[in-house]
Order: sequence, then C-alpha cells, then structure tokens
Amino acid sequence: TTESTVPKSEVKVIRRKLNGYVGFANLPKQWHRKSIRRGFSLNLLVVGERSLGKSTLINTLFNKDLYPVDSFSKASFPDPEEPVKVSVETVSADIEENNVKLSLTVIDCPGFGEGINNTDTWKPIVDEVNSRFDKYLEAETKINRSTIVDNRVHACLYFIEPTGHSLKPLDITFMKQIHEKVNLIPVIAKSDTLTEKEIQEFKQRILDDINNQGIKLFNPPEYDHDDEETRAASRQIMAKAPFAVVGSTNQIQTPDGRIVRGRSYPWGIIEIDNEDHCDFIKLRQLLIRNFMEELKEITANKLYENYRTAKLKKLGIEQDDSVFREFDPVLKQEEEKQLHEAKLANMEAQLRSIFQSKVSKEEKKLQETEADLFAKHKEMRDKLLKQIKLLEEKKKELELAKPLHEPTHSAPTKTRKGFLR
Ligand code: GTP
Repeated sequence: TTESTVPKSEVKVIRRKLNGYVGFANLPKQWHRKSIRRGFSLNLLVVGERSLGKSTLINTLFNKDLYPVDSFSKASFPDPEEPVKVSVETVSADIEENNVKLSLTVIDCPGFGEGINNTDTWKPIVDEVNSRFDKYLEAETKINRSTIVDNRVHACLYFIEPTGHSLKPLDITFMKQIHEKVNLIPVIAKSDTLTEKEIQEFKQRILDDINNQGIKLFNPPEYDHDDEETRAASRQIMAKAPFAVVGSTNQIQTPDGRIVRGRSYPWGIIEIDNEDHCDFIKLRQLLIRNFMEELKEITANKLYENYRTAKLKKLGIEQDDSVFREFDPVLKQEEEKQLHEAKLANMEAQLRSIFQSKVSKEEKKLQETEADLFAKHKEMRDKLLKQIKLLEEKKKELELAKPLHEPTHSAPTKTRKGFLR
C-alpha cells in the first residue's frame, strides 16, 4: 500500500454467493422493473478505528459472514517505530433474496487511526474515493457508455468510538475531508456500552460538533409526490442519526422463549432487531430498504457531478453550474469533446513547455560557452600584451646596455687580467 493509491495486488476481492434475509426484496416503494430484473448494487465504505465492531455490523446488516470477526486477525498490532499505513480492502458478495439480487461491495480501511501521528490517516481513503470517481469519468468519455460499472462509493459508514464525551479531532478531520465526496452516515459503535441517557447526550454533542464544523451528513431528498406516510418514515429514520448501533450475528434465547440476534449480559439481553434497544433497524432501513436508490442518486447527481465539474474546471473547461443536470446526449457529447480537446491542449502545452525549457537551457549553455570563450580570449590577449611589454622593456634594457662606440671588426684583445674579450 502506498499513501496515495492502493496497488491492485492489495485489493482483495472475494466473491461469494450468499443467501439470507436482508430486506431489499420487500422494498416498500414502486421500483422500476428494470432495477428488480437487473438487481441492485451498493458500494459501501466502512471507516473507523480498530475493533469498533465494523466487521460485526456489516455481517449483521447483510446477515452473513462477509468478514471473519476477529479483531486481531485482520491487522497486527502496529510497531510503534513504523509509520502505520492505511490499506484499502474490498469484499464483494452477491446476496439473493426472493430472486432479487444485491451486488454488495464493502470497502474497508484497516490501519485507519492506528498511528502515533494520524494527521494523514484519511488520505488513502480520500484517494480511493477520488480514484473511483476518476475511473468513472474516464469510462464516461469512452464511446460505449452502456457498459460502465458503477464502482463509485455510494455511502460511508463512519464508526465513532462510544466514549460518551464528544467527537475526537480524528473524527472531525476525517469527516471534513470526506463529507463532500460521499454520503456520510456516522454511527456510534458498540452503543450497548452506554446507557440510554448517555447515548442521547452523546448524540447531541456529536450533532453540535458536526454543525459547528459545517460537516454535511447524508440527508434524503424530499419529493413533492411523497405522501405524508413516506415523509414521516424518512423523518423517523433520520431523527436517529448518528445511529447508535449494536452488532451481533449470534442467535440467543430471550427469557420469554424468543430466538433473537443479540448480545447477552448478566443484566439482560440487547436485541439487535429491536428498535427499543438500538438504532440498528433504522440504519438498515436507511441503507437497504428506504434510501438505497437515493444514496446512489445523490452520489451520481451531486457528489460525482461536483467532483467532475471541479476536475473539468481544473482542465480549463467551464460548464453549466447546475448540480442536477438533466441528461442531454448532445451536451454530453459536446462536453466529452471539450474534455478530449482540453486533454490534448494540456498535453500540447506540456510538450511546448518541455521544448521551451530545453531550448532555453541550450541557449544558456551557448551563452555560457560564449562568455567563457570571451574570457579566455581576453586572458590570452592580456598575457600576450604583457609579454610584448616585457619584451619591449628587455629590448630597451639591452639597447641601453650596448657600448656607445663599439669597435667594428676588432680583433679579440686581452684584458688586464689576460682574459679574452
Ligand atoms: P478491526 O477490523 O480489527 O478494526 O475490528 P472491527 O472494527 O471489524 O471489529 P470486530 O467486528 O472484529 O469486533 C471487535 C470485537 O468487538 C469483537 O470481539 C466483537 O465481538 C466485539 N463487538 C462487535 N460489535 C459489538 C457491539 O456492538 N457491542 C459490543 N459490546 N461488542 C461488539
């Protein structure tokens, strides 16, 4: 795993065919026949610190063992000397219910928040969301668009530690980094460790922090054609956010003889599927029964569109600012053309700048060589001038040293001491 992108080899994809009751086969709304025939698909990002019950909740939500529940099996304890890397792991499963299929992909991020310094622990996760948007954008620009597989993240379950205090800086940092890219759904993990009163107060403090920080959570749209019953159901679901959840796939017997999924304590039993005990049912309704399609619509029409617009703007393409654009094939084709042209222009500009920098480098080199030559020339000239000057001086000296009346053709004579001159 690198900090920014996850190498393919580390992305585990396990495909299993599962059977078990989840609830999507009994959707309360009028679904398009096509959706029923084709089946549904959902890509769920799951983020939270170690051992907050993420695997257990996913298994509980989809009623199957997608993950081995062993908090120590998926990641070993970090070596305090080593920086902790966050990896991205993907598990896919086809769940079938009354002949209706749900193709589920869970994206899990082991290592999140486990370092001594967690400043950048969110980065590989945001990179993963972006890279899924990028791949979709790339596929959209290809000619055969009907075969695009939607691998974008449709929702992010963020697990908050049940401290009972308020959000931690890590929670705030992560949510701020991701809230404009995904439908963010915070949950209070292992809420059976808190009392009802503690949960209510904790929820309020979390919501206050979220509001103060300007963090946007998933909020289902209200349609004019919704009847009062639908509106009330939506309100009831959303009133529970952040969802205080408890997970367990264990079947236990209640004192009155019922077999339920739950957790057993000396003081009693917590029933997962009992709305008086926790918000699990409401969370499942949101994800699977009531708002699966809305999660995908918001991802496609708002979150992805915003990402796409920002990306195109970066490439120098202006487009219609309306977030919920109507699909117009001509407009789309025009945008694709613009995108392609912008890419080409970008490449051309890059090539030009490389060329220019090479040319200017060569020019600089030439100038330097020229200056060098000039300096050498000057040095040589100075040297020669100096030599000329010296020679001239020597010549003068010699001239001065010459006897005034030198005998011409005189025979060698003896000096006083008898030497020849
Ligand atoms: P990592 O993948 O290691 O980060 O763990 P995780 O977040 O997937 O947690 P996991 O589901 O493996 O659960 C960790 C431990 O917490 C297990 O012993 C679970 O039985 C327990 N656990 C899971 N959910 C709950 C819950 O809702 N309440 C309580 N009290 N314990 C839970």
